[in-house]
Amino acid sequence: TNPSLLILPGDGIGPEVMAEVRKIIEWFGTKRNMAFDVSEDLVGGAAYDKHGTPLHDDTMAKAQEVDAVLLGAVGGPKYEALDFSVKPERGLLRLRKEMDLFANLRPAQCFDALADFSSLKKDVVAGLDIMIVRELTSGIYFGEPRGIIKEGNERVGINTQRYTESEIARVARSAFELARKRGNKVCSMEKANVMESGVLWRDVVTEVHQAEYPDVELSHMYADAGAMQLCRWPKQFDVIVTDNLFGDLLSDAAAMLTGSLGMLPSASLGAPMANGRPKALYEPVHGSAPDIAGQGKANPIACILSFAMALRYSFDLGAEADRLEAAVEQVLADGKRTADLLGEEGVTPVSTGEMGDAVVAALDAS
Ligand code: NAI
Ligand code: MG
Repeated sequence: TNPSLLILPGDGIGPEVMAEVRKIIEWFGTKRNMAFDVSEDLVGGAAYDKHGTPLHDDTMAKAQEVDAVLLGAVGGPKYEALDFSVKPERGLLRLRKEMDLFANLRPAQCFDALADFSSLKKDVVAGLDIMIVRELTSGIYFGEPRGIIKEGNERVGINTQRYTESEIARVARSAFELARKRGNKVCSMEKANVMESGVLWRDVVTEVHQAEYPDVELSHMYADAGAMQLCRWPKQFDVIVTDNLFGDLLSDAAAMLTGSLGMLPSASLGAPMANGRPKALYEPVHGSAPDIAGQGKANPIACILSFAMALRYSFDLGAEADRLEAAVEQVLADGKRTADLLGEEGVTPVSTGEMGDAVVAALDAS
């Protein structure tokens, strides 16, 4: 049977960028004889408009069954006044929670043609390709006790960092599995020098490594030193695995090593399913961009690269993912730019559809 993919375009530019991914999927089906069972459904404001809920139960059930979910973006001004319980974001949060997607993958990848876009020196970022794996479902954002309490005559704000062994072990496994499909190197970041959860983190990652992944190279770094190294010489890393809080900061910083929001893909992975593949949700990092929605200005590359991640991490089609990424690289090298990528004057931007067509043409030529 064909691998199955559920597409949830969502709101704003979501459907616009997803239409370009559809062209790519079509290309793989007709030109490479790799057909996917694609189904499409509503999420976010679009689902609310039709069903009064940002994620219908049937859609949730479908998401649990497929090999991978690809989501565009949710939200927009039209839905801002809605009750919190039916806000578009709740659709996305429900997907992440019920699929138990505990490993958030944020690549920082720099295409040579865009190296000038970075605020760092060109040789520091050109050819960069690293992956940050952030624990997504535990840690200080969820630990109890939490709250603001009164202590004497002052208020005290409290959050608790709490990690169980099994929570650390499963995200470590995700990182080691990924490393085997990439550069075979993992750097684990915590602050074991000042945090108990960091001591446990380092111990458990080391244990999982010794017992199950001795073939992967493992190193440890304090997260603050890691932040420094990410800016100094990011190419020393392949896969970085870290907790929810440090991962939030490090992945945002790493993302900006490489340029525009319109270029950044992501994935969230859960436990392996019966077929051995992890539960997976792929999505661009950007939102629904209401300021440019409906104008053909959106950059579809973040969503296209999210599909490339699905090829690599859900469908074991690493060579095809390479092919797609090379096509994107080629299009950029040819000087094609959507409006968000315009630096130089005198360059006319291409539309969302033209960018998608250019990637398909580059695939054809590959
Ligand atoms: P945003 O990411 O939608 O837009 C930020 C800026 O980047 C805007 O100027 C936008 O035009 C530009 N931009 C974003 N993606 C682009 C692309 N592919 N091509 C070209 N330019 C692009 O973030 P913002 O404005 O904070 O949020 C807008 C809406 O999206 C809100 O309703 C927010 O809640 C939602 N949102 C949804 C997310 C998701 O679905 N995962 C993530 C972030 C925000
Ligand atoms: Mg963040």
